[in-house]
Amino acid sequence: MSKISPVWHPFTQPALDPQPVNIRRAEGVYLETADGRRVIDAISSWWVTLHGHAHPAIAAAIAEQAARLEHVLLAGFTHDAVEELSFRLRKFLPPRLTQIFYSDDGSTAVEVALKMAVQYWQNIGRPAKTGIVALEHAYHGDTVGAMSVAEDSEFNAAFRTMRFPVHRVHSAYCYRCPVGKIRATCKIECLEKLERLLEEKSGEIAAVIVEPLLQGAEGMIVHPVEFLSGMRELCTRYDVLLIADEVLTGFGRTGKMFACELAGVEPDLMCVAKGLTGGFLPMGATMCADFIAEAFVGRDQRRTFWHGHSYSGNPICCAAGIASLKIFESEPVFERIAGIAATHAERLAAIREHSVVGDVRQIGTVAAIEIRADDAGYFSRLKPALYDFYLKRDVLLRPLGNVVYVLPPYCITAEELNRVHDVIAESLDFAQDVLGNRAESARA
Ligand SMILES: Cc1ncc(COP(=O)(O)O)c(C=O)c1O
Repeated sequence: MSKISPVWHPFTQPALDPQPVNIRRAEGVYLETADGRRVIDAISSWWVTLHGHAHPAIAAAIAEQAARLEHVLLAGFTHDAVEELSFRLRKFLPPRLTQIFYSDDGSTAVEVALKMAVQYWQNIGRPAKTGIVALEHAYHGDTVGAMSVAEDSEFNAAFRTMRFPVHRVHSAYCYRCPVGKIRATCKIECLEKLERLLEEKSGEIAAVIVEPLLQGAEGMIVHPVEFLSGMRELCTRYDVLLIADEVLTGFGRTGKMFACELAGVEPDLMCVAKGLTGGFLPMGATMCADFIAEAFVGRDQRRTFWHGHSYSGNPICCAAGIASLKIFESEPVFERIAGIAATHAERLAAIREHSVVGDVRQIGTVAAIEIRADDAGYFSRLKPALYDFYLKRDVLLRPLGNVVYVLPPYCITAEELNRVHDVIAESLDFAQDVLGNRAESARA
C-alpha cells in the first residue's frame, strides 16, 4: 500500500519544500521530533502559543470542559464558559469595546469586522458607506474577504477576480519609506494619502482596517505609534470606522495586552484570535463599540447581523481562553515579556552593524532582521536556505523571505532566547554566502 501522506500542508510546495518534520509531543518552548530531537519553537508555531506548549493549566481546563459540555450552538443558547471568557476579556479591552462576537480564527474574525462595519452604516441609514481602506503590506488572513484587504501579492494573484476592490493607502514602512523621508525628519507624511482619500471619499467609506503597529506576514514591519494615533484621528474626523486587527499583536506580543494601548488608541472594532486560547485551539473574536452593537438591535429583522459559525463560542475553546487569561494573573507574564524584549534589544543592537543586515526592528517580544538581498521579498532564496540552516541547529525560525524574525512563547528562558539569537548571528555570514553565490553564478 502507498505510504504517501494524504495531508495537504498549508503554504507548502511539495516539489520544492523539504518533507514535513513529524512532531510527537511539545512542552514549553520545545517541539520534540519523532526521532528524538528537541527543537526550540522560536515563532510560537505561527504566532499562536503564548505561555508555552502543553501548559498544564490550559490542558487541564480543556479536559475538564470537554467532559462536561463540549459544544452547544450559540444562537438561542449560552453557557458559563463563553460568559466567563467574555467578562474576563472585557477587563483587558479598551473600555468602549463592549460586545464580543465569536468566530473560528483570525480570518473569520476579520470577515466579521468587515461585514459588521458595512452593515452598521446601512442600519443607521447611510448605505453609500461601503468602501474599505487597507494598507500596503497588509495581511489579514486567507478567506476571500480577508484576502481582499491584504496587499496584492503572489499569494492572492490567482484569486484576483474573487477579491473585492479596496482603497489602498501607505503603510509606515520606515526602512522602505513610501514617501522617501529620512527618519529624523519624519512627520508621518505617509498618512497624507489616507487623509486625502478620506477628505474626498469618506461618504463612501465604511472602515479603515489596520494591523496596529506591527504588520506581521509582510515582513514584521513596525510602525511609529504616531502613525496609528494619526489614523485614529483621521477616522474620527471623517466619520469612518477604525478596525484594529490584533490577531497577531494581541495578548502581550507587543509589550502591552493589545498594541492599540501603546498608541493610546481605542478602535471601533477589534479582531483577535491566535493567542486567544493560549494557542491551544482555533478561535476568533471581533469586539465592537456599543454604538455599533446598538445599530443592530431593533424589531426589523433586516437589522440583524446574519452571520455565524457552527463552532461560534465553542465551550472547550472558551475554557482554554479562560485558563490562558488566568495565567496572565497567576504567573509573571508581563515580567517575562519585558525580559524577552530586553534580550531582543541587546542582541539586535549587536548585530545591526553586520554588512548583510539592512534593518533591525523590534516591538515587545517580536524582533526582526531585514537582510539586504537582491531578491528581497517572500520568495527570496534566503528563505529556504536559512530555514534549513536554523532547523539543522534545532531552532524553528521561518523567515519571511529576507526577513528573519523571532516571536517566542513567553516561557522562553534568557538562555534559550540567547541560543536563538546566537544561531541567527551565526547565520548572517551564511546568508552573505547564499546571496554571494547567486551574484557569482550570475556573473559567470
Ligand atoms: C494580522 C493577522 N490577521 C489575520 C490573520 C489570519 O489568522 P488565521 O490564520 O487564524 O485565519 C493573521 C494570520 O497570520 C494575521 O497575522
